[in-house]
Amino acid sequence: MHRGKARAYTNIALIKYWGKKNEELILPMNNSLSLTLDAFYTETEVIFSEELTEDRFYLDEQLQEQNATKKISKFLDIARKKANTDLKATVISQNFVPTAAGLASSASGLAALAGACNEALHLELDDQALSRLARRGSGSACRSIFGGFAEWEKGSDDLSSYATQVPSDHFEDELAMVFVLINDQKKDVSSRDGMRRTVETSSFYQGWLDSVETDLCELKQAIQTKDFQKLGETMERNGLKMHGTTLAAKPPFTYWSADSLKAMQTVRDLRTSGIPCYFTMDAGPNVKVLVEKKNQTAVQAAFTELFSRQQVISAHAGPGITIIE
Ligand code: ADP
Ligand code: DP6
Repeated sequence: MHRGKARAYTNIALIKYWGKKNEELILPMNNSLSLTLDAFYTETEVIFSEELTEDRFYLDEQLQEQNATKKISKFLDIARKKANTDLKATVISQNFVPTAAGLASSASGLAALAGACNEALHLELDDQALSRLARRGSGSACRSIFGGFAEWEKGSDDLSSYATQVPSDHFEDELAMVFVLINDQKKDVSSRDGMRRTVETSSFYQGWLDSVETDLCELKQAIQTKDFQKLGETMERNGLKMHGTTLAAKPPFTYWSADSLKAMQTVRDLRTSGIPCYFTMDAGPNVKVLVEKKNQTAVQAAFTELFSRQQVISAHAGPGITIIE
């Protein structure tokens, strides 16, 4: 029996990963850059055993059906190949984040699974190799190996596509992200399906590709110079652009709801009233607001006037993946 357990935190992209050039290897069309957060995470234990005849996947204490288990088995196959074993496994995972709601459960979930496999099968992967392994499960997961800011270098093949930590002289310690949970139920269009449909059919997608590199450069400059306004403006612009591409897909779709628009307007109103804060959104209706810690309470207060207290959750920069004994 071989056992391993790991905890990985979610990350929210400030420059988004949106589109793959290789679906099998999960190689992205563009570099992305994220902030790992401390409020949401996944703990996953994996046990490889001679006694099992098939893989089993428990998520939040529920045995998962065939399709979800197949996805896990596909990932386990990659780890098994590295360890040169065909042992089946039981995967027991707990999400301390709503699943498939646009709050990056795929990032923490697959990073934790990669970390647990690394431990259980004694793969002895360093952070770079672990990031590459996590990427094979879910693209955004490759960034959750690292704490603070992480950049996923798109690369051109399996070896060259992985995330690294972005040096920041502790800038992330000045920041907070306020999550406005508009809907924590499973979304209609997964990130995977949404980005595929956009790449294949959206006439706006080329515009995304033409400008994402410039956004990334500006965002990295903002980190280096600790320029919060520039960081926020670039993040907000990049996120809106990503969501713009879905409107021109065939058939068109959007992850926004009426409450998402209300939350975005609240951010703009806060700025007008002199509180610098900026929003971003992922593949779901929830809005994430980036703010300096010194203004976190003011932002929370504005949102708890409009939404319930349980819908407003604050996070700070979180750590990289950790092994749990
Ligand atoms: P999210 O916004 O939550 O990342 P996605 O649609 O991108 O939503 O990804 C959700 C998918 O991630 C799930 O359907 C499942 O396949 C996978 N996932 C989520 N949590 C876990 C976990 N703890 N272990 C393994 N896979 C997970
Ligand atoms: C909008 O990493 O969940 O959150 O690689 O298909 O598993 P797959 O997709 P996933 O997509 C994340 C998309 C995003 C932007 C981001 O996190 O960069």
